[in-house]
Amino acid sequence: MRLHKIPAQKLADGNYGITASQVRQAMAEDRKNGLKPCAVQLNYGSTNTCGYDDLNSFRGFSEQEKVWLHVDAAYAGPALILPEYRERSLLMQEIATSFNFNGSKWFLCGVDSAFLFIKDRQLLKRVFAADGDYMARSDAEQIYNPEFKDWSIPLGRRFRALRIWMVLSYFGRQGLQEFLRISIDQADAARKKIDASGLLKQIVKTDLGLVCFRLASDDLNKNDLFIKRIEDLSDSGQKFLIYPSVIEGQKFLRLALGGIHTETKDVDLFLDLCLKAAQDVENGLVQKES
Ligand SMILES: Cc1ncc(COP(=O)(O)O)c(C=O)c1O
Repeated sequence: MRLHKIPAQKLADGNYGITASQVRQAMAEDRKNGLKPCAVQLNYGSTNTCGYDDLNSFRGFSEQEKVWLHVDAAYAGPALILPEYRERSLLMQEIATSFNFNGSKWFLCGVDSAFLFIKDRQLLKRVFAADGDYMARSDAEQIYNPEFKDWSIPLGRRFRALRIWMVLSYFGRQGLQEFLRISIDQADAARKKIDASGLLKQIVKTDLGLVCFRLASDDLNKNDLFIKRIEDLSDSGQKFLIYPSVIEGQKFLRLALGGIHTETKDVDLFLDLCLKAAQDVENGLVQKES
């Protein structure tokens, strides 16, 4: 079993992802090397920049290439419950053999919980069904009475259903949709503020709750100073969780909106701090430590 990683490239949507032609090329190379491609894993909402692989280009892909096409939507998947993203969820249903999202990232269910959606559950059962006289009979299985032991390698599993049921019944569909929209609206407001500032700029285009930005100046040293200043502010008691990331050699900050207690004033406070730090860097008030 081999994993063939395909580097993401900047796509027309202004973020990073891979395209079907890249995957076809990689599969052709693998076949030349005597390998048999069996599964492709795509990303809807990458960890670093919330980039989407070019899902449109994968229409008909799994049927034509006879491969399992899984889409990892661990973070971004919950957005598919929004009616305004109906087209995206229809596309997901069309192209994916399976896709997943995490309950812990942006769906209020806490760790560890994840949702796996599969086009045809028989595909799992054909591989994983476990039989034995000592096991409960699974003949009567129906969609509302699934034998999960037949769907994956482990026979037993932790019980998380009640926690998930509580979240779904407490918030309801509408409540969850509202929660997601608040994060997206906060992120949109942050994006606007960054774009209008002249001091900061978005490093990729994002459209959900993640905002990726850096100093607007092309001077990478200044950008490093800016990021260091924000890290120092965080260490000195502002209590922001800062793990700057890097793409194509450029450091950037990831503002991840999705906490149920995050309010617009929190976002404003953080951005004001960033703008002040950016201004200080531009005014030469922040120096590199010797
Ligand atoms: C796109 C994506 N997939 C998978 C994961 C990991 O999920 P898990 O903790 O369920 O392995 C993450 C982030 O942690 C992620 O952003």
